[in-house]
Amino acid sequence: MPANPNIPVIAIDGPSASGKGTVAQLVADKLGYHYLDSGALYRIVALAAQQQQVIWSNAQALGALAKALNISFKDGEIYLNDALITELVRTEEIGRGASEVAVHTPVRAALLDLQHNFRTPPGLVADGRDMASVVFTDAKLKIYLTASVEVRTERRYKQLKSKGLNADYDKILADLQQRDLRDSARSASPLIQTPDALLLDTTQCDIQQAVDFVLIAYKKLA
Ligand code: DC
Repeated sequence: MPANPNIPVIAIDGPSASGKGTVAQLVADKLGYHYLDSGALYRIVALAAQQQQVIWSNAQALGALAKALNISFKDGEIYLNDALITELVRTEEIGRGASEVAVHTPVRAALLDLQHNFRTPPGLVADGRDMASVVFTDAKLKIYLTASVEVRTERRYKQLKSKGLNADYDKILADLQQRDLRDSARSASPLIQTPDALLLDTTQCDIQQAVDFVLIAYKKLA
């Protein structure tokens, strides 16, 4: 039985750099719902492991570390042991680390309650890889948001450039392909489109069109 079954959840899953985080946040803002960026939790585990010199392949140690995390989210910022880490978890290196630590079942199990706790009134929009398939199986609306790997690479490239950071198109492409493979091929909660999820391919549409698609689909359920 899920915790708080009467509180509606919109689950948005999809591959890296698909834009699902931006879409999920905007849908949550529009509805006045809470927002869960579940990828941030895996990123925090990867960062905490790096800080504590635990390697990203050590499943048991990472599981214990994930269970003991002291995280808080305030006004869009993330704190680990009261230290601000919002920018630190967004690097490409920590994104890769998140994908590596996320393959371990003890890590995923340790983060489950934390994710369920985000389900508070009036509702939740949650994005990740296993929101529909594992964490919120009873979500009212399930969306699988994707885009071609070339378009995702292009978006990530422009995003890095706009921040004045170094960006290499071929490296980003190779990295995304590797992450797609790791996230989809793992045995623990792989990235999948569940049969009851609506497909939203944003290869040829912009953020606003994607947000409208989700809001219209949600309104139809009311
Ligand atoms: O959404 P993101 O790019 O911030 O996620 C980083 C990594 O975390 C992603 O490559 C796989 C992992 N992840 C996961 O396994 N399950 C989730 N629900 C969210 C993220």
